[in-house]
Amino acid sequence: MVGTPADIVFQSYGRCCKSEQFFVDFYDYFMASSPAIKDRFRVTDMSQQRHLLRNGIMQLVLYARGMSDRKLRSLGESHNRSGYNIPSEWYSLWLDSLMKTVSKHDPEYSRALDTCWRDVLTPGIDLIRDAY
Ligand code: HEM
Repeated sequence: MVGTPADIVFQSYGRCCKSEQFFVDFYDYFMASSPAIKDRFRVTDMSQQRHLLRNGIMQLVLYARGMSDRKLRSLGESHNRSGYNIPSEWYSLWLDSLMKTVSKHDPEYSRALDTCWRDVLTPGIDLIRDAY
């Protein structure tokens, strides 16, 4: 693995994004992690949601590379108690589901890469979660 942790994750995400199936698998794992989570996507257009998530994960990575927090603040607002009302415990299930998906899709996946992803994404996830 070469580059800063944020670069390493950026490249790994590029390998994952090659297949649309990455996002299908993510939502399968995430929804399987709790019936209450599955229920939140009951009326969601999942093909549209997969596209929105593709961009959302990119925002987390770009934030780690020093980009403005504006987009993440707006995700914090849409997910807070007056929005989708997403309790803070669900974010660790979100991240675990994401890492399970990365392990399936990135041929270069390793324990070290897993740690790298978690370290890089955590500040951005915390920003969204803390807006609750
Ligand atoms: C919508 C990203 C965590 C549930 C969205 C959207 C994005 C997004 C980009 C669409 C834009 C918007 O409506 O604001 C993320 C990211 C997360 C995260 C990056 C992690 C940091 C979660 C978690 C849940 C969740 C933990 C728990 C169930 C939802 C729901 C919607 C949504 C219910 C709306 C779906 C609909 O339109 O029917 N998310 N999300 N998100 N997210 Fe998240």
